[in-house]
Amino acid sequence: MTAPVLSVRNLQVEFETRRGMLRAIDSVSYDIAKGEVLGVVGESGAGKSVTGLAVIGLIDPPGRISGGEILLSGLRIDNLPPEEMRKVRGKRIGMIFQDPLTSLNPLYRVGDQIIETIKTHTNLTDQQARKRAIDLLAEVGIPAPEKRIDGYPHEFSGGMRQRVVIALALCAEPELIIADEPTTALDVSVQAQIISLIKRLGRDHGTAVMLVTHDMGVIAETCDRVAVMYAGRVAEIGPVQEVIKNPLHPYAKGLMGAIPTLAGEDKRLVQIPGAMPRLSAIPPGCSFNPRCSSAFDRCRVDRPEPLRQGTQAVACHLYDRATETAA
Ligand SMILES: Nc1ncnc2c1ncn2[C@@H]1O[C@H](COP(=O)(O)OP(=O)(O)O)[C@@H](O)[C@H]1O
Ligand SMILES: [Mg+2]
Repeated sequence: MTAPVLSVRNLQVEFETRRGMLRAIDSVSYDIAKGEVLGVVGESGAGKSVTGLAVIGLIDPPGRISGGEILLSGLRIDNLPPEEMRKVRGKRIGMIFQDPLTSLNPLYRVGDQIIETIKTHTNLTDQQARKRAIDLLAEVGIPAPEKRIDGYPHEFSGGMRQRVVIALALCAEPELIIADEPTTALDVSVQAQIISLIKRLGRDHGTAVMLVTHDMGVIAETCDRVAVMYAGRVAEIGPVQEVIKNPLHPYAKGLMGAIPTLAGEDKRLVQIPGAMPRLSAIPPGCSFNPRCSSAFDRCRVDRPEPLRQGTQAVACHLYDRATETAA
């Protein structure tokens, strides 16, 4: 058995603030296999971006990884010296953020940025790198790439810019791509194209993808598996069709209830009353317990750990044998 491309083990991330230590990520674990797209979903503040930043080693002080391990193809990367990590980033892990302009320098032609990145990570000559850059731009769907390669970022539309960023992320043929809300800033009509492009990466390049989004529709269409995050923890993880059709965690049930149907009619908008707690006020026990209609005594005391349920894993006491026998 080969090691997963990404393995996150009991990851903990803390931020030192004036009001004390806040734990943004609390014992998060998951794997992503070669060619697999893992969706990470959950409402704003759930810890999706911080998880991605931890994997690429970009948590800035006063934040820090305070526990757990991150392995890339079996080797630990969470404790690498910054210089080593900089090499891993870009070469072995590609990044796509919400705003393409965070990844593109407005002062340089897009081709020069791609060519420079290719040359950093390969032994290609200028001419070969330019050829490869044009091929990459073509692959991500930029029309007339041999002309557009000499354009500046502002000469591209939002969707085309995000394609350039994806080409940039692909330059070094990374094992893993982290895409954090890659379509949120784009027109709806363009979103689907970018998503199908990301989906193709796994298929054509064997790239493992972590796709962060709050859009369950995108998850349903793109991902092999999905992790539902809540208040810095994984509430549920499993194959996307299972989790959508048969969500186990009460929070996931609410979230799946909120997916509009394909036809657009009968939007089963199940509102979960209340809001996710702030990090400074995470309740004891299960962090979802104040909003959970199924909560019982243990949920207010004991923090649930992920339990296997078939192909899914769920952090909820409702699925604990010990609970059943005690009840
Ligand atoms: N630099 C920071 N300092 C303090 N808290 C932070 C910092 N960055 C993120 N957080 C906190 O970590 C939690 C998770 O944030 P984030 O991962 O960005 O959520 P999201 O799921 O919306 O991407 C939030 O409560 C956020 O306020
Ligand atoms: Mg985010």
